[in-house]
Amino acid sequence: MKIVVVGKGGREHALVRALAESPGAPELFCFPGSDAIFEIAKPVAAKGLENLITWMRENAIDLCVAGEESYLVKGEGLANLCEKAGIPCWGPHLQSAHLEASKEFAKAFMERHGIPTAAATATASIEEARTAIAGKYPTVLKFDGLAAGKGVAVCLDEAAAESFLSEVFVQRRFGDGRVLVEDFLTGPEVSIFAAIVDDRYVIFTPARDYKRIGEGDAGANTGGMGAVASRRLVSAELMATIEKTVVAPTVAGLRKDELPYRGFLYFGLMLTPNGPKVIEYNCRFGDPECQAVMPLVRGDLANFCLLGAQGKLDPRLISFDEGWSVCVVLASAGYPEISRNGDVIRGLDQTPASARVYHAGTRRKGDGTWETHGGRVLAVVSGGPSRHEAVAAAQEAASKISFDGMQRRRDIGILNFDS
Ligand code: AMP
Ligand code: GLY
Repeated sequence: MKIVVVGKGGREHALVRALAESPGAPELFCFPGSDAIFEIAKPVAAKGLENLITWMRENAIDLCVAGEESYLVKGEGLANLCEKAGIPCWGPHLQSAHLEASKEFAKAFMERHGIPTAAATATASIEEARTAIAGKYPTVLKFDGLAAGKGVAVCLDEAAAESFLSEVFVQRRFGDGRVLVEDFLTGPEVSIFAAIVDDRYVIFTPARDYKRIGEGDAGANTGGMGAVASRRLVSAELMATIEKTVVAPTVAGLRKDELPYRGFLYFGLMLTPNGPKVIEYNCRFGDPECQAVMPLVRGDLANFCLLGAQGKLDPRLISFDEGWSVCVVLASAGYPEISRNGDVIRGLDQTPASARVYHAGTRRKGDGTWETHGGRVLAVVSGGPSRHEAVAAAQEAASKISFDGMQRRRDIGILNFDS
């Protein structure tokens, strides 16, 4: 089986490795990929989306796996183009990927299908936004489009709201677009992943990510500084509620609205005192949650995705380890404001064999050594029968690696738990 994975980050490194470890030993390619990914997958000699499709057809690719979201919503959409070319694609069509690309579209979808979420009003100007906020703080403002994780502001007061609204409507920082004014919710967050094939689904191991740069959830938002995954993150009772009130109605809603879906769907949930509510949908696996979840997946992920892309969901092809998995991200100097490139990474050969090190932003130099090349540089993942053992193993493995200005949180898998 020949598979192309689309993306270049830590999530794609983890996906490529999980697919490579599938029993049939598939031949892997990655687009655009990275130096580290190219140690286990071959590069695709293509530039741009149309070119990629032609290359896949010419090279008799059996399956295209969408790692990141950008290509799903680019041009005609990766999955739409794959379908036209007769290439099975694990990742949804353009019209369905709007669930991630447009917060207004996602909100209307949830309201239409009775899926619990924060109440919200769409606004088109500063004046409309002010009216919708109506002096009530905290309030949550969301730019209605892809904004590289910068499009959401939880505003504690009027000054914060005015500053965000000015960025959106005056400075046009994210381009044209409206703003959702949303009720502020409270509660722990959890990331749920479903593999959806038309009207059926399998729920993967749940996870929690840590978005802030600093320990204790202090400082700026980032792409994610770590994650913890385990079936025990969510009780069986709560998972049943999530499935009944969120996952099943979402899958039914996709069918009703004729939104084709074959691929991973990420539900960002907040566990509020009034039950689980959807904060956001993402039309792909989470990053860095994927790096924590993939080591728990057993069986034949490659065939699971191939059959899924062809419209046949076979849950028997995969299973999930009990126990815990913890992912600790090592970020570069200055991240997230800037990310310094070119720092030499030491100790990559010192981590224990039981740990997995996924590369998110690295580059291999001519002499074979690795250097930083991006904000989030590496994700170090270890497992264990208990959360504390997994945390200790991941931190121990991460401590072997160093580079100048390296940033690492020590409270991944500890903060936001009772003990
Ligand atoms: P999003 O990009 O939609 O995932 O939002 C980023 C983060 O903002 C979430 O992970 C939450 O921590 C926070 N957030 C989003 N919506 C709300 C809300 N309605 N109430 C409270 N916090 C929110
Ligand atoms: N972990 C959050 C995301 O993938 O968007």
